[in-house]
Amino acid sequence: MFHHYGLGFARSSLQFDGPWGPRTTVQLPGMESMVHMDPRDASQSRGSRFGGLPAEPTISSAKDLIAGADADYASIAEMKFAAAFASSTDAIHISRVCDGVLVEVNDGFHELTGHSVSDVLDGRLFEIGIWENHADRSRLADNLAADGHVSGFETALRHKDGSARTVSISARMIELAGEPHILAVTRDISDHVRVEQELATSNARLGRMIGDMTTTLGRIVESRDPYTHGHQERVAEIASVIARAMGLPEYCVEAVRMAALVHDVGKLSVPSEILSRPGKLSDVEFDLIRTHSDAGHSILSGIDFDWPMAEIVRQHHERHDGSGYPYGLVGEQILLPARILAIADVVEAMASHRPYRPALGLAAAIAEIEDQPAKYDPRARDACLRLHADGDLDFITAQRIQYGHA
Ligand SMILES: [Fe+2]
Repeated sequence: MFHHYGLGFARSSLQFDGPWGPRTTVQLPGMESMVHMDPRDASQSRGSRFGGLPAEPTISSAKDLIAGADADYASIAEMKFAAAFASSTDAIHISRVCDGVLVEVNDGFHELTGHSVSDVLDGRLFEIGIWENHADRSRLADNLAADGHVSGFETALRHKDGSARTVSISARMIELAGEPHILAVTRDISDHVRVEQELATSNARLGRMIGDMTTTLGRIVESRDPYTHGHQERVAEIASVIARAMGLPEYCVEAVRMAALVHDVGKLSVPSEILSRPGKLSDVEFDLIRTHSDAGHSILSGIDFDWPMAEIVRQHHERHDGSGYPYGLVGEQILLPARILAIADVVEAMASHRPYRPALGLAAAIAEIEDQPAKYDPRARDACLRLHADGDLDFITAQRIQYGHA
C-alpha cells in the first residue's frame, strides 16, 4: 500500500528524474518540481545513535521507492524525523515505558544536561539524576499515562555541572517494535523565565513608584488645605473596601483606589483661602471650587496611567440621577470607579470635620446614602450599607479620632 504523507499523491502519478540522490527531483502532477533531501545528510549528524541506525534502512527504502518496490512515504517521514531529531537544538529522547531505559537521545540532550550520548544510552533517565524534583517526574508520567501526551510541562532539570535549568517538556506515547515508548522534546526556557521574572520585578517597582507618586501628589494638594488632611487617603480606603464588597476584580479595586488618592488634585487651581475659609461659601466661591473636577482632569490627562484616571477624577462629583457636575451625566454614563468614588467621598466628607461645619459623623453620612437612593449607583450603595451594617466601616470613626476630627 502506497501512503502519501503530507503530499496527497498516489505513487503511480509521480515521476523521478533519475536514481535517488542528494538532488533527486520528483515531478508532482500539476505542480512545479520539488527536490528531496538526501537522507544520508541526516545520518551524518553528530552524536545521536538515531543518526546512525536509520541511515541504511532509510536509504534502501528510498531506493526501493525509486525502483518501484514496495516502499512508501513512511520512509520519507522517517527521514524527516531523523533530520529533525539530529539537528534540533531542543533535547529529544526516547525511553522505554516498561523500564525507563533510554533508547535514543540527540545532541540537544547533551547540550541541555551535560551528559554525553554514550553516558546515558541504555541507562535510565531517573538514574542520571537530572530531575530537580522527583515528584515532577511522577506527575509527568501520570499525565502521560492518562492522556497519552503532555504539552508545555514546566519543571527544573539539573545539568551535569550542577546548575539548574528551567525546561518545558512536550511528550507523547509512541510504539516502537511493538513496545510503548515515550518520545519527549525538552526545551530550555531558563532565559525566557529569567527575563519574565526581571520584567515582573521591574513592573512591580514601576507600579510602586506610580503609587508613591500618586500619594505624594495627593498630599501636595492637601498641604494647601489642612482641614482636609488625609481626606483622599481615607476616601481611597473606603472606596477600596466598597469595590471589594461589590466583588470587583483586584485591578478594578486598584483603579478606584488610585483615582481616590488624587480625586481632588484639581483643587491646586483653587485659591487656598477659599478652600480653608470657615463659614458658608458664596455662590461664586462655590462655583470656583466646582471647577476642580475639570482642573483635575487637565492635570492628570498628561499621565499615562493603566486606567482612565483623568476621566474618573473628572466624574467624581457626577450623580447617578444626573444631579451632579460638571456634565450632569446619568447612570452608566458615569464610569463605575467614579460612581464608587462618589459614595466614598460623601461618606468620608460628612464623617469628617470641614472648615465650614463640624464633623457630622458616620451615622449621618450613612443616612445621607440611605435617604438619597437615586443619587448613587445601586450596587455601590448596597455594598456601602451592607459594610456599615456589618461594622466594616467603623474604621472611619477611628481614623477621625486619630486625625483629631472627632
Ligand atoms: Fe472633590
